[in-house]
Amino acid sequence: MTLTAHADRLKNVPFRDILNARSHTPRLDAAGWSADISRHYLDREAESALFDLAREKDLPGALKHLFDGDMVNPSEGRPALHWALRAALPRSEEARSVRQSVIDAEDMAADIANGRKKGASGEAFRAIVHIGIGGSDFGPRLIADAFHDKRRQDMELRYCANLDPLDLELALDGLDPATTLVVGVSKSFGTEETLYNLGRARDWVKAGVGDGWAAHFALVTANPDRATAWLDGAEGLLLNLPESVGGRFSIWSAGSLACSIALEPRVMAEFRAGAEAMDRHVKLADIRSNLAIRLALLDVWNASFLGFGARALLAYSRRLKLLPAYLQQLEMESNGKSVGPDGIPVQMPTAPLLWGGEGTIGQHSYHQWLHQSPSMVPTEFILAPGATDDEEGVTGLTAHALAQAEVLANGRTLEEVRAEEPDLPLEIAAQKVHAGGRPSTFIYAPELTTFRLGSLIALFEHRTYLAGVLWGLNSFDQWGVERGKTMAGRLKPALNGEGKPQDAITASLINSIKR
Ligand code: F6P
Repeated sequence: MTLTAHADRLKNVPFRDILNARSHTPRLDAAGWSADISRHYLDREAESALFDLAREKDLPGALKHLFDGDMVNPSEGRPALHWALRAALPRSEEARSVRQSVIDAEDMAADIANGRKKGASGEAFRAIVHIGIGGSDFGPRLIADAFHDKRRQDMELRYCANLDPLDLELALDGLDPATTLVVGVSKSFGTEETLYNLGRARDWVKAGVGDGWAAHFALVTANPDRATAWLDGAEGLLLNLPESVGGRFSIWSAGSLACSIALEPRVMAEFRAGAEAMDRHVKLADIRSNLAIRLALLDVWNASFLGFGARALLAYSRRLKLLPAYLQQLEMESNGKSVGPDGIPVQMPTAPLLWGGEGTIGQHSYHQWLHQSPSMVPTEFILAPGATDDEEGVTGLTAHALAQAEVLANGRTLEEVRAEEPDLPLEIAAQKVHAGGRPSTFIYAPELTTFRLGSLIALFEHRTYLAGVLWGLNSFDQWGVERGKTMAGRLKPALNGEGKPQDAITASLINSIKR
């Protein structure tokens, strides 16, 4: 039986029946995390067909190609070596040079944090302003937000990504250029937003410290020629972001220099160690017990065979507040595609819309839609309290996450409403019915440590790559994004009064905006 036939069959089975049969589904454990995947439209036969798919698409082979440094990014003619950034003992020379870029960054971070590297006026740095966008921003921002309580007391950390001039103004507000280091991260060193903000930051530093301004810039890039030209003969700090590391896979790289400087010394090392532990799990575990493979299979099952066009990520952890935004780029920029590397269209829906937020906060907002809207999306719970020193808070957080998953799955029938609340008028009782049948994955850990943040993110990286393999996509390029950049470049002359755009609606909007 095909996967499509299994999906058609299971769609017509009451979800509660499916769950009864799956309540003993073994938990999956990996690098500090456990996952329960029993609440899905699956049974033994459908799951076994998914394992066949994993074998047919040779997921173990795909992982071997990744870790052997083979060219898994054919359109850009490169391997994907992000795993080497966290590998304690990389084997190939290329992987060792990738790892070296992190060691160089850590050395530089220590020099800056300890005041051995100083600003132009001889003062130690007391503030870091990180400038970058997309993969050169989400990662370090997530780590710093997650472990804000592990910040060095004497170091301020700010971020700027947006082309809206206000973003940099807010980032620089109240800072003294003499004690501020600007960390500019851009793999290409050609991204408009980053160059615009770096240019304005340079003016601000120059006005404050004069000639020695370049000592206030640490530039992390795969394009040192452009960065050197930007420094215009002055001597700034340069770090390597290897070509073989994609922006959205670069959280482990020198691009997180700001975190290495501003957070306590062990944070980044533990974070990378967690990722390395997940790499080991993913390399060694067989298909059935491999968490990344199982999640990738679920992604394809839910999106392509059951037709769920979205997935909600509900992070029950204050430290994971920025995780949904981070994963949106990782998953949607990687697999939001319709054509494979051979140029042939993929004949099925691919990566779903990923959205979500922080539990329990979302419960007072969009959870209403999750529970009772006619639309149905699978949800993914990640429960990992950020601190465990208050039992009441942890118990509450845990109870809420469990309750949400249970209600989404089981729903509440009219009979159940009436049995519990017999005095309700029928029209009110009817509104209290939950259809249920909403599948979910429950990923959990007793506490969100730096190690576990690393292993979680590495898990999602591998899952994304493996889902891309199942869909027949190259997860490491992003042609759709590139097009938007080109078009914005073409419209700027029209905004400056030169020429007219071809598109009539854009032309009329420009007229009206200029008025
Ligand atoms: O948004 C598109 C993108 O190309 C991302 O893939 C990348 O992370 C981001 O722009 C920033 O690119 P760069 O690091 O080259 O400035």
